[in-house]
Amino acid sequence: MARAKIALIGSGMIGGTLAHIAAREELGDVVLFDITEGVPQGKALDIAEATAVFGSDVALKGANDYADIADADVCIVTAGVPRKPGMSRDDLLGINLKVMKAVGEGIKKYAPNAFVICITNPLDAMVWALQKFSGLPVEKVVGMAGVLDSARFAYFLAEKTGISVEDIHAWTLGGHGDDMVPMVRHSTVGGLPLPELVAQGFLTQDELDAIVKRTRGGGGEIVALLKTGSAFYAPAESGIAMAKSYLSDKKRVLPVAAFLNGEYGLSGLYVGVPAVIGKDGVEKVIEFSTNEDEKAMFKKSVESVQGLIAACKEIDPSLA
Ligand code: APR
Repeated sequence: MARAKIALIGSGMIGGTLAHIAAREELGDVVLFDITEGVPQGKALDIAEATAVFGSDVALKGANDYADIADADVCIVTAGVPRKPGMSRDDLLGINLKVMKAVGEGIKKYAPNAFVICITNPLDAMVWALQKFSGLPVEKVVGMAGVLDSARFAYFLAEKTGISVEDIHAWTLGGHGDDMVPMVRHSTVGGLPLPELVAQGFLTQDELDAIVKRTRGGGGEIVALLKTGSAFYAPAESGIAMAKSYLSDKKRVLPVAAFLNGEYGLSGLYVGVPAVIGKDGVEKVIEFSTNEDEKAMFKKSVESVQGLIAACKEIDPSLA
């Protein structure tokens, strides 16, 4: 069987890390695309040379021409400008919307059968615009945010309780903004829902509240530390987890920004929800039961996403 082809649109910090992981794990041949000349070629060559150390036979190529992504099985999009300190994800809207137009048109022309994973922020609006610009089926265009937010939530829980991250299942829903919804009742440590964990004394309610708050601000915490960019290791790992579930038809349930068709009472927009990822892309959205508090938090988060979409339509009337 031919090797899978993975096109990385954007060869910056996340794109380069994605290429490294994809090559190490022999997920497929990798094309690094960017508008900057030399960077994708340099990263592709650097990683290609490393394949002789870790013993992987995939091919890597750097490109500035969309023709090179032809017939990709997976496209992971990180093209755009990342957040700088003090800049909200929403400030990025105008700049990155234009980038999504160019990327969407490139994918439409050269890789219309790909599974497309968008990482560019502000995520929920960018993935929505990318689907529109590319014209690909909604189930084949998905946003990466929830895997990352949930991983942060799980890591903070592991750190506090001393229990292995492997035995923690944490979930966040809603938009990829500071009002995302960490699902405390549905997240488990060793099978115990978090309220039960508090009742059994593994951590206090105050500690849990602090973890929820830290999860919501997880992206900003890294931006403040790095000063010159945003997180890239955990975002890249999260994108790879989604690509692997698609490529091997693994049908993992992952929190992703999926297009909703009535689920959670919403239609026509992308929001973070748990979804089954398999060979057909987003194969099913899982609906968590929500109590009044969770419903209110979810509504607020969705309203932020709707606000971003309205702003996109204003900037580019072709999206209306
Ligand atoms: N087409 C292709 N690539 C582009 C375009 C474009 N129109 N515009 C910018 N790029 C490239 C840049 O040249 C750069 O190499 O996108 C790359 C972005 O890389 P970084 O600046 O290193 O950003 P990164 O940390 O990888 O984050 C990418 O993901 O998490 C989000 O907020 C983050 O939106 C940002 C994105």
